Amino acid sequence: MNYSELAPGYIRAIAPYQPGKPISELERELGITGIVKLASNENPLGASPKAVAAARAALDEIALYPDGNGYELKKALVKRFGVSFDQVFLGNGSNDLLELVARAFLTVGDRAVYSEHAFAVYPLAIQAVGAQGICVKARDFGHDLDAMREAAIANGAKLVFIANPNNPTGTFLPGKALHEFMRAIPPDILIVLDEAYNEYLPAECRYDSVAWLSEFRNLIISRTFSKAYGLASLRVGYALGDAQVVDMINRVRQPFNVNSVAQAAAVAALGDADFVKQTFEMNLCGMKQLKEGLTALGLACIPSYGNFISFRIADAASAYRRLLELGVIVRPIASYNMPDYLRVSIGLEAQNQKFLSALQQVLGETA
Ligand SMILES: Cc1ncc(COP(=O)(O)O)c(C=O)c1O
Repeated sequence: MNYSELAPGYIRAIAPYQPGKPISELERELGITGIVKLASNENPLGASPKAVAAARAALDEIALYPDGNGYELKKALVKRFGVSFDQVFLGNGSNDLLELVARAFLTVGDRAVYSEHAFAVYPLAIQAVGAQGICVKARDFGHDLDAMREAAIANGAKLVFIANPNNPTGTFLPGKALHEFMRAIPPDILIVLDEAYNEYLPAECRYDSVAWLSEFRNLIISRTFSKAYGLASLRVGYALGDAQVVDMINRVRQPFNVNSVAQAAAVAALGDADFVKQTFEMNLCGMKQLKEGLTALGLACIPSYGNFISFRIADAASAYRRLLELGVIVRPIASYNMPDYLRVSIGLEAQNQKFLSALQQVLGETA
């Protein structure tokens, strides 16, 4: 019996998401320690001490199911963003939110649009429900909003995914361009604006997408506690949208999709503006260090607005493997149709330096 044949063809066709290699796995494989992982856009400062304390306190209650409605976290988000309770939904990481939107609104034969080089979960979420993904060619590694609008309309798409900034390219769409896109797209096409890296945007790039919710009922804004807030392991994200849209999504989620430790930590993290500021500043310095270091090594980088940067390197797959042997984990992005690039997350100064030194060695070996 070939059990894979029991699965629908569109499930069999899925190429699973490839996460960054865990430190423990490389330790087992190579028997080395002192590994630096700059592969998953995590926060090298860790999490806010307030969030960690809240998570510890919540451990006393783990025998109980969490609040399935996430009241306290939603209350904190409602206060922060000036939306109503029924406009907020929570996810097991923002990955969960993206999948839930696809599950609630797409079915076999439906179409959804995303950009070339955009976050890998969009095509996966679309394919997992038997819908058809329409991949629109990127412009300068970023989203071509005009082409995406045209493709969405021409293909009768129900949903468009937009990442701003995008992962793994780090490209950024100014608020003005996004707002114009929202005005031009028909209201019966839902737009998921994935702002997982929003907190890393410098002041001059900031735009108020939340204010657009009252103008565009088809807008869904997705954010995460995994990146700047440093809670990647707890799996918690949130989305803001129209109450009717949120209602549909709530129908397909697990009743307890966000655990109580994550909910408590997220409330505390949201309240710790100092930690987010510290993270932002650390990221700015680290980005400068990596950009200058990569440029000094003669490597071209794609200007990035996130907490990572992608750079072009000959024989990227070999360079990735050699970096692993030297105890540095970065991310190959061949699966993003970028076989000549590697992505490195911004780390602490010493981690960035270890990466740059290892990379210099690798380049020296292949010269
Ligand atoms: C653009 C983007 N969106 C969403 C996510 C999902 O993150 P999480 O599920 O941890 O919230 C990621 C993670 O890398 C991402 O890069």
